[in-house]
Amino acid sequence: MNTLIESIYALEILDSRGNPTVRVYVELFDGTREFSSVPSGASTGQNEALELRDNDKRYGGKGVQKAVDNVNTLIADALEGMDATRQKDIDYTMIELDGTENKSKLGANAILGVSMAVAKAAAKSLDIPLYQYLGGTNAVRIPVPCMNILNGGEHADNSVDFQEFMLVPHGAPSFKEGLRYVAETFHILKGILKDRGLATSVGDEGGFAPDCESNEAAIELIIEAINKAGYSPGKDLSIAVDNAANSFCTNLKDNYDLVWSGRGKMTSDDLINLAGVWLEKYPIILWEDPLAEKDWDGFAKFTEKYGNKIEVVGDDIFVTNTKYIQEGINKKTANSCLIKLNQIGSVTETIEAVRMCRDAGWRYFLSHRSGETEDTFLADFAVAMDGGHLKTGSACRGERIAKYNRLLEIEHELAGRSEYRWK
Ligand code: PGA
Ligand code: ZN
Repeated sequence: MNTLIESIYALEILDSRGNPTVRVYVELFDGTREFSSVPSGASTGQNEALELRDNDKRYGGKGVQKAVDNVNTLIADALEGMDATRQKDIDYTMIELDGTENKSKLGANAILGVSMAVAKAAAKSLDIPLYQYLGGTNAVRIPVPCMNILNGGEHADNSVDFQEFMLVPHGAPSFKEGLRYVAETFHILKGILKDRGLATSVGDEGGFAPDCESNEAAIELIIEAINKAGYSPGKDLSIAVDNAANSFCTNLKDNYDLVWSGRGKMTSDDLINLAGVWLEKYPIILWEDPLAEKDWDGFAKFTEKYGNKIEVVGDDIFVTNTKYIQEGINKKTANSCLIKLNQIGSVTETIEAVRMCRDAGWRYFLSHRSGETEDTFLADFAVAMDGGHLKTGSACRGERIAKYNRLLEIEHELAGRSEYRWK
């Protein structure tokens, strides 16, 4: 059969931060060859699947030669001869071969690289686009690009505690126009920063990282940029925030310390009340990780208070893992889950996470990682999953733009039959 796997091999390459990551090549019996590269996070949840690193002298311990070797030997031996179109079989064969709870034997980076490359190869062999292969013929909805234009926290060296401020072009008529709205506003923001003598250097995901005097000042700058770009805040463009609250919470539970801005210690209730003030003042429609990963009570309180108004997204608390998502659904911890392929480590399990959210009436928010590559798998995957929105960085840095450009291509390919809407 044409789609049987002939060979699998991996290579150690570099990601957008210059750290090693895994790229996997898959070749099928019919000669189809595809590859995929694995992203890597910086503000990670404790329960993420394990990213196997060498911890030796090379690359300050960050080498991935062990993961590469696992692909080239154990995984290749197990999968060669299997049918690439049987994604679930492929993924569960690797999960069983690994045999650990968090993929620590083979490495989630090894497993995910193979999982994505196999999907790409199967789609190519069948001569259908990846989004359609994974999502079916009804995969026509292009996600609203939540563009991260201002960075703080662990993604930047500045005085902003909250990690990401995103622009959400939900009022645009199409993805192409939405992307234009946010890219234009990004450039206007750059001008405003320049005029104020603030830095226009960018963080890991391409957003600006100015030394604002407070977190509020960051959001005020963005509103100013929206207005100056000729858009209406709350109508054309709204704002999404990712506190990534783990990064200013030493015990990961309820002991917050906003060190970057110098605002100092805050309780869970303080943060929830602050969000209330912001929601009154600013057009925020989505809030991710408002509290830390062990602050389940705080999270539920936040959702109870604001969940009928905005999307409350759990990232580090759920880590794309159905075990934690199910707990979140039971406890009403949030009303949406961030979805990152490498948090769980295979395409099939990621789809299972999405399906669980959908069944519960939750939303799900597809996401890149702060360490990325030029691979555009995420763009196709987001269309296939039909979730309506994604975040994949700013209007600069090639590894982010590659995903946006792929989405433009998909929208174009669908020739007027694509869909674009927030909800
Ligand atoms: P990360 O950040 O990729 O560094 O984990 C992204 C996020 O927190 O959403
Ligand atoms: Zn996050």
